[in-house]
Amino acid sequence: MIQVENLHFSYTKVPFIQNMNFAVHSGEIFGFLGPSGAGKSTVQKILTGLIGTYQGNVLVQNREVKHPHKDFYETIGVDFEFPSLYEKLTARENLRFFASLYKKTLPLEPLLESVGLASEADKKVAEYSKGMKSRLNFIKSLVHEPQLLFLDEPTSGLDPSNARLVKDLILEQKAKGRTIILTTHNMFDATELCDRVAFIVDGSIRALDSPRNLIMKRGAHQISYTYQSEGLEHQRNVGLSTTADDMMLQMLIKENHLLSIHSSEPNLNDIFSELTGRRLQ
Ligand SMILES: Nc1ncnc2c1ncn2[C@@H]1O[C@H](COP(=O)(O)OP(=O)(O)OP(=O)(O)O)[C@@H](O)[C@H]1O
Ligand SMILES: [Mg+2]
Repeated sequence: MIQVENLHFSYTKVPFIQNMNFAVHSGEIFGFLGPSGAGKSTVQKILTGLIGTYQGNVLVQNREVKHPHKDFYETIGVDFEFPSLYEKLTARENLRFFASLYKKTLPLEPLLESVGLASEADKKVAEYSKGMKSRLNFIKSLVHEPQLLFLDEPTSGLDPSNARLVKDLILEQKAKGRTIILTTHNMFDATELCDRVAFIVDGSIRALDSPRNLIMKRGAHQISYTYQSEGLEHQRNVGLSTTADDMMLQMLIKENHLLSIHSSEPNLNDIFSELTGRRLQ
C-alpha cells in the first residue's frame, strides 16, 4: 500500500528526515511511535501529499505521492493532529460540508452516533469541548469510506471511555480491510492497536517490528511474586527460565503461601528507551 525509499526531508537547512525506508502492507495498522518533535506528523504530511518537497521515493497506492492521481483524496481519510473544523458551524453542518467534497459518502447520523455526538450534533463546534472536537475530527476522516486512513493522535485529549470508543472504531475499520497509519506517543495504544510499529526519534526510524516481537526479543522475562513473612510483605523477582531453582518460590507454592504472582515483561516504553535512549512520556 505504501513504499518509502531513501526519503530525505527538512523544513530548514539542517537535515531532519534522512534516508528513511519502510513499507506499509494492505490491511495492517502501522504505527509511528515517538516523542514530541520526532517527526511523526511530518511523515504523515508527506504520505498524504501535503509536503511535496521531499527527496526519495514515496509511493502511496503505487503512485509517487507528490504527483497524486485526481481521485487520491477520495481514497484516503485523514484525522489531523489539530481539529480542522469550522467553529461557527454545528457538528452536523461541518460533516455535511466535508461530505459534500466527496463523490460518495456514508449516512451522517450513524457516524455521529458511533462517537456519542448525535444528541450534540446541532451545537456549534465553538461550543464543543476538546474531546468532542477530537471525536468529530475522527469521524470526519471516515465520511467517504476511505481505503487508507491516516490518524494522527486520534485518542489524544479523550477520556478513557471515549478513547475506548475510538479505538474500537479503529479496529472496526481494520476488520473491514482498511489500511491504517496511526501516529501516537501512547505506548498502550501502539501495543494494543498496531500490527507493526516504527520507533521514530529525531526524524529517523530506530526499530520496526510487531509490538509483541519488540517486547519478546528483548524481554528479560521475569516473574515477580509476593509473600508474607514475620508480619511483613516481601517481593521477589526471578527469571522465567530459572523458576525451578528458586527454593523460596517452590516452598511458597508447595505450602500455598503465595500472596501474588505475575510475569513482568518490559513494556514498549522500556524497549523504546533501551533502543533509542529516549522516553516516550
Ligand atoms: N511547518 C514547520 N516548519 C518548520 N519546522 C516544523 C514545521 N512543522 C514541524 N516542524 C519541526 O519538525 C520537527 C518534527 O515535528 P512533527 O510535528 O513532525 O513532530 P511530531 O513527532 O508529530 O511531534 P508531536 O508528538 O508533538 O505531535 C519539530 O522539530 C518541529 O519543530
Ligand atoms: Mg505530531
